[in-house]
Amino acid sequence: IEYACSPKPLLGKKVLVTAGPTQEAIDPVRFITNHSSGKMGYAIAKAARNLGADVTLISGQTNLEPCPMINTIQIKSAKEMFEEVKKYASNQDCIIKTAAVADYTVKEPALNKIKKQGETLTLELSKTDDILAYLGKNKQANQILCGFAMETENLIENASNKCINKNCDLLIANSINEKDSGFQTDTNKVVIIRPQSITHLELMSKEELAYRVLEECFKGEDYVTH
Ligand code: CTP
Ligand code: CA
Repeated sequence: IEYACSPKPLLGKKVLVTAGPTQEAIDPVRFITNHSSGKMGYAIAKAARNLGADVTLISGQTNLEPCPMINTIQIKSAKEMFEEVKKYASNQDCIIKTAAVADYTVKEPALNKIKKQGETLTLELSKTDDILAYLGKNKQANQILCGFAMETENLIENASNKCINKNCDLLIANSINEKDSGFQTDTNKVVIIRPQSITHLELMSKEELAYRVLEECFKGEDYVTH
């Protein structure tokens, strides 16, 4: 079986992964979400488990199979994701934030189904908490923090700013314009941004990239490649 592979360079390490989209309720039957499939985050969680880590996965709603031997917490909204992350963050060796978190939530979700009325409808939205920025501000000694970013323009500039502003050790940047890369695909072409360096990777499967991301996260530690 997959997780019986050896060696186990992450044995004894605690890894927290967030994955998938968030859902912000408009009313009891509708919500605001995004195209995140959760594939990248699930691939990282499984790779970390296979390498021996104790893995917690905080997941938005996806169509993916549950992962054996991974402590998985299902959430819906950005607020629920933030609450769960806060419960687990402080004793993690590494936190990887692949989730596509809503930047805005519906200020006052309707208690009953909104009825069709006028020609236009206006929804008032309010900003959510930035979970990655919170983790960056509250980073524990020796804790590794890895962000993700999806951009449609100025990839390197935007992603570098996020890496620095959110106090990440590294940030994995991908462009939605890149062929076979992004939300629903099985492959990804990314750039690894660190405060002091930029590394362009070739196109690879999300599984292969998952191992590469973990290797990058634990670089400098006593890490043996699988
Ligand atoms: N993120 C987060 N909490 C939020 C928004 C984003 O933790 N409320 C995290 C994502 O999980 C991701 C990283 O921040 O790891 C970058 O997300 P992204 O949407 O690219 O960046 P934003 O800072 O939200 O900037 P913008 O959407 O304006 O590009
Ligand atoms: Ca955002």
